[in-house]
Amino acid sequence: MTSSNRTFPDGFLWGSATASYQIEGAATEGGRGPSIWDTFSHTPGKVLGGDTGDVADDHYHRWPEDVQHIKNLGLHAYRFSISWPRVQPGGSGEFNAEGIAFYSNLVDALIEAGVQPVVTLYHWDLPQELEDEGGWANRETAFRFAAYAERMARELGDRISVWTTLNEPWCAAYLGYASGVHAPGLTDGAKALAAVHHLNLAHGLAGRAVRKVLGPDTKISVTLNLHVTHPVDPSSADDRAAVRKIDNLGNEAFLQPMLDGRYPAELLEQTAHITDWAFVQDGDLELINIPLSILGVNYYSSSRAQKFSGIGEKREADNHGDGAASPWVGADDVEFLPQPGPYTSMGWNIDPASFTSLLVDVGTRYPGTPLMVTENGAAFHDTVSADGRVHDADRVDYLYRHLDAVGAALDAGIDLRGYFVWSLLDNFEWSFGYDRRFGIIRVDFQTLERSWKDSAYWYRTLATTNGLPG
Ligand code: NOJ
Repeated sequence: MTSSNRTFPDGFLWGSATASYQIEGAATEGGRGPSIWDTFSHTPGKVLGGDTGDVADDHYHRWPEDVQHIKNLGLHAYRFSISWPRVQPGGSGEFNAEGIAFYSNLVDALIEAGVQPVVTLYHWDLPQELEDEGGWANRETAFRFAAYAERMARELGDRISVWTTLNEPWCAAYLGYASGVHAPGLTDGAKALAAVHHLNLAHGLAGRAVRKVLGPDTKISVTLNLHVTHPVDPSSADDRAAVRKIDNLGNEAFLQPMLDGRYPAELLEQTAHITDWAFVQDGDLELINIPLSILGVNYYSSSRAQKFSGIGEKREADNHGDGAASPWVGADDVEFLPQPGPYTSMGWNIDPASFTSLLVDVGTRYPGTPLMVTENGAAFHDTVSADGRVHDADRVDYLYRHLDAVGAALDAGIDLRGYFVWSLLDNFEWSFGYDRRFGIIRVDFQTLERSWKDSAYWYRTLATTNGLPG
């Protein structure tokens, strides 16, 4: 462990994060409708071990205990997502009072515990009925999303501290519609790019809808998984151009419409052989470009790319599904090389320095938009020791190094308001099922019992002292 003593700014928000499909379970209870993740996880071969979110952490029934853990951890904020099909089973029309009551009760309990609710409206569990009509490749989905967001604003009102429209639209669009490793499991580059735009539109429309109900000062955010991609040879113009292609698809396709009101010309050019972008209609960019109160950044690892020489087999070590189609639509001449270790159990490299540079770059580029780390954390192969505890020194070390990296960004003058560890609980890690554990609290998936790992005790010290021990 490196050693540094850091104190974070007063009021720095310490939190933890989860998502509905990953923790709730109760997939057919309380009037919930099916989502694309129910369909996908129940399709043989899509999720490791055939795991599904049917039960997950059973948070739907155990939420009072989970709120107690959040409180006992000394956290100031809790980031969770609303399952759209739980509150509006078909994605349009009728709302489900029982589902709405679930979130309303959760929010009340959090506030009662002194914890600020940070809500995400979309963390990938699209109502299946909307997918049947084209999902995010269909423009209409963005308007349905805004109607759902408006209703949530009416129901939860000013009890919510921050409204996050979307979580990682990159994953929803490219992993869902291009590489097919996430629901709905399609491999259609043109649909993926249409999904990118319709997710951006959904962000703008939903943010506007929430502000229409709750007022213009309502805190609206979006969470992006911004990619840090290094050129294999920084002196090679070809490698730098390869990285720019990835940056355009992975970062600029969201940052520029949302924060600057445009799509980069380079992105349209490099994907012109896939789509003509006719799905971008007049006025859309103005709708998307709403004032952002906070930009949420998720960071786990970095990548290395170069121009593919065309000789031999192209390497695809881009961290997103072995052997699957590439999520990098149209970037056929870009090759990802494996990063040097160490790695987490996701096979992702551990690179805190790139975290600092990412935060400094984006914070410098958008100085008027405060940043929040909405996810950071690590999966490791945890073992329960003879004393019944998980001594996850590897996770503590990962968190330590990444918080030190956050501190370095603060030292550089970046306006960074808080940090949410992923995750509060071990949970359903998408196509990896229950095999990858990110929690600071262990969940025994047989008994559903929760127990604090060493990282939870460590994080509590941090949250309650506001200091990173050396
Ligand atoms: C980002 C996603 O938002 C979250 O759902 C996922 O579990 C973590 N990354 C880890 O892969």
